[in-house]
Amino acid sequence: MNQSPESSQHLCPTLRESVAAADRELVRQLVAATGFFRDDELLVAVELVDERLHKGLASGYHFLFAEVDRRQAGYACYGPIACTVGSWDLYWIVVDPRWQGRGLGQALVGACEQRIQAAGGRRLYIETSGRPQYAPTRAFYRRCGYEVAAELTDFYDLGDDKVVWHKRIA
Ligand SMILES: CC(C)(COP(=O)(O)OP(=O)(O)OC[C@H]1O[C@@H](n2cnc3c(N)ncnc32)[C@H](O)[C@@H]1OP(=O)(O)O)[C@@H](O)C(=O)NCCC(=O)NCCS
Repeated sequence: MNQSPESSQHLCPTLRESVAAADRELVRQLVAATGFFRDDELLVAVELVDERLHKGLASGYHFLFAEVDRRQAGYACYGPIACTVGSWDLYWIVVDPRWQGRGLGQALVGACEQRIQAAGGRRLYIETSGRPQYAPTRAFYRRCGYEVAAELTDFYDLGDDKVVWHKRIA
């Protein structure tokens, strides 16, 4: 059955873990489409794909791509935090605006948590901005069961705090 972006029901995406060269452009498009990120942030998102393509899993960057009816709808990038035992970072998560609010973000976070738990991870950390633009993102993390672990005033810029979220997953 075809899923239409207009419908309001939660979707169950197909998840893909493999990463190919074409995903550089896919990630660039998905991140740009949100309208949330500056050009320098966009470059960093693509650099993570490059690192993964060059070094494989030794890069420390794990990807999950969400597809609905063979259409690319979003992705997450996560990995273990160096010099910790069992702490992992969700580096990036985006859902194409056409597919937002349909449960794909929650499905991606849940799938990351399952994989991290299976790999022996204990805690997952997420960093986000305290700006009003990110209020829906913060509501999303709260809904996924994350709590604020720290707030760093003016971290990204004057008036742009860093909010660190965490969840115990094992
Ligand atoms: C944040 C983001 C990944 C969430 O993905 P999503 O697929 O839209 O989220 P879901 O549909 O899975 O939402 C899960 C829950 O989060 C909450 N939520 C999601 N979007 C929300 C919004 N705009 N306002 C309030 N709550 C929201 C809801 O409680 C929702 O549960 P419900 O549908 O049962 O009510 C997506 O909106 C996005 O890409 N945002 C822009 C980029 C960004 O901020 N990325 C994260 C920073 S790196």
